[in-house]
Amino acid sequence: MANKWFETVAVAQRRAKKHLPASVYGAVIGGAEAGHTIKDNIAAFGELGFAPLTAGLPATREMATNVMGQDISLPVLISPTGVQAVHPDGEVAVARAAAARGTAMGLSSFASKPIEDVIAANPKLFFQMYWVGGRDEMQLRMERARKAGAVGIIVTLDWSFSFGRDWGSPRIPEKMTFQEMLRQAPSVAVRPAYLYQWLRNGVVPDLTVPNLPVGGAPAPTFFGAYGQWAGTTPPSWEDVAWLRSQWTGPFMVKGITRIDEAKRAIDAGATAISVSNHGGNNLDGTPATIRLLPDIATAVGDQVEVLLDGGVRRGGDVVKALALGAKAVLIGRAYLWGLGANGQAGVENVLDLMRSSIDACLLGLGRSSISELTPDDLVIPPGFSRRLGH
Ligand SMILES: Cc1cc2nc3c(=O)[nH]c(=O)nc-3n(C[C@H](O)[C@H](O)[C@H](O)COP(=O)(O)O)c2cc1C
Repeated sequence: MANKWFETVAVAQRRAKKHLPASVYGAVIGGAEAGHTIKDNIAAFGELGFAPLTAGLPATREMATNVMGQDISLPVLISPTGVQAVHPDGEVAVARAAAARGTAMGLSSFASKPIEDVIAANPKLFFQMYWVGGRDEMQLRMERARKAGAVGIIVTLDWSFSFGRDWGSPRIPEKMTFQEMLRQAPSVAVRPAYLYQWLRNGVVPDLTVPNLPVGGAPAPTFFGAYGQWAGTTPPSWEDVAWLRSQWTGPFMVKGITRIDEAKRAIDAGATAISVSNHGGNNLDGTPATIRLLPDIATAVGDQVEVLLDGGVRRGGDVVKALALGAKAVLIGRAYLWGLGANGQAGVENVLDLMRSSIDACLLGLGRSSISELTPDDLVIPPGFSRRLGH
């Protein structure tokens, strides 16, 4: 049997592209409008360099940390994504991989597996919520997460329902019916290994969202839920503070790009923020998050844990984010490519690559711990950062 190990995330992406039907691959690529933000998220990491040392390097390096009360063995967490249809085991496979590698996971409220099943695979689980359906529904959803054993909440605030991409959007059906399978047959038939994976599990991707219904209602379809969300009045900061008051444990606000909003999240009682532009899937033209991080991190100091997500594809990116003030990062597409390329083992492969290249960077920079990283470890071109909302 072929060795499915891959040496970088880019290799995993190429394998996932070969394995997945075009519509599923396209859904993970995502992006919005002209793709300025999704490209900048990656390009900006490339603009930063390192300032390495040679002799006197540390024999051992430390990268364990603690985020939202959870001890994790590396400063990389799983960002919440709806991984509908990438793999039959979906978020359960991701949770097993994260647990095997000692890290925590965000579970999307648009995920394909029930929270109870995912927590059974990894108890270090934060439940991610969008504002769908008003306070009463939000409270009931949170109650379910609490009962299931979630150790934190992530509230994602940055979605603006933009749609349309210059390179075309993937076809996502309302429901995976027999007719829909026939319609998609040409693209699925050229991916026999993908098809076999699902058939072996005796299911077709059903594209429902089991963590969204309340009061015992059946799981709505992805688009049914999306429609309800689009019809919900967006939350105010008072709503966010109210939501926070309903949860006694750690609480993250994801989607912050401005200094003033980082401060509002602190005022609302957030334990953590993620400097995030939703991986470029949202308001196109938002700068890369790594450009926004330094000023936000400086402005908030240690009042809140600062995380970053967007464009992280290798350990070097993680080290750059930590040097500019992040406590840890969240990864999205990187693990989805691993999942698409090789299931649970592929996600473990991605986390192993992150760990080994963080370690290599620490060695090259002469740092014995991630806590020693500073901007002096980097080559930062003039005009690199962007300061919003001060
Ligand atoms: C396919 C896909 C689905 C996503 N779904 C969600 C979601 O349900 N909730 C959420 O908070 N973020 C979601 N995100 C955003 C990620 O959590 C994260 O912010 C983003 O992927 C980071 O960028 P990266 O993919 O470049 O690492 C999604 C991203 C992708 C690519």
